Amino acid sequence: MTADIIDGKAFAAKVRGQVGEHVAKLKAEHGITPGLAVVLVGEDPASQVYVRSKGKMTVEVGMTSVERKLPADTSEEALLAVVNELNQAPEIHGILVQLPLPEHIDAELVINAIDPAKDVDGFHISNVGLLGTGQKSMVPCTPLGCLMMLRDYHGSLSGMDAVVLGRSNIVGKPMAQLLLGDSCTVTIAHSRTKNLPEVVRRADIVVAAVGRPCMVPGDWIKPGATVIDVGINRVEKPEGGTRLVGDVDFDSCAEVAGAITPVPGGVGPMTIACLLANTLTACCRANGLPEPEGLTA
Ligand code: GUN
Repeated sequence: MTADIIDGKAFAAKVRGQVGEHVAKLKAEHGITPGLAVVLVGEDPASQVYVRSKGKMTVEVGMTSVERKLPADTSEEALLAVVNELNQAPEIHGILVQLPLPEHIDAELVINAIDPAKDVDGFHISNVGLLGTGQKSMVPCTPLGCLMMLRDYHGSLSGMDAVVLGRSNIVGKPMAQLLLGDSCTVTIAHSRTKNLPEVVRRADIVVAAVGRPCMVPGDWIKPGATVIDVGINRVEKPEGGTRLVGDVDFDSCAEVAGAITPVPGGVGPMTIACLLANTLTACCRANGLPEPEGLTA
């Protein structure tokens, strides 16, 4: 069997199109423009690339983009003051503080200082608790993107066996909560899991988010299963130079799986699309307007 390829790049473009249409309607009917603020501390090159890309796509869907770039030696107190100012700003509906933060800053303290209603990353402890208890929350962007792709491919996920590889707060744990919310039977596997190949072989849905290049071989995959690869790992090519690979071995998994996301072009593009969707959702909630359909958990 050769797996269907789930094209995250195309799906993300569709999601951004839907967000853009909704934004145009908000402007025309209510005179409201959603605003997203991204805060970047320091000059981490990867973070600069992400932030630039976020800003560009925010403007493309018709939202206001605010970038607050602060020097690497910014004090925790000064950063908290910026977060507080953005919390108070009525034209800002979403706030994202780019991670990682410099070591002298307590990232948890800063994240938990964001107004939970504006926490478009879904990292605030209130949003984590709301998601865990099945209440309306802001949902982390990468797992939300994975869920959207799974729902689009399968329709209902009810009763499916799902294995999430990785237990991070950003992907693994919220992903498991979302799959549980869609009535999957969920296993979270990690580096200490016994008989990992057997555990993964039970899964109708595998979400790999461990950050280890090509860790999952095709013979761990149940024939016909859907494989969502969250990994983005840069590896050396034998002939020189580098390339991006996921956490699953694409070629051998694609022989066995029913559907699989490629790297690049799978989950990656969905993350920013979901950030825009979350900003739109936050804006609608802030204004007491109906939430966009199909763009939330
Ligand atoms: N750094 C890398 N990815 C992310 C993300 O999704 N959110 C934030 N805040 N920082 C990041």
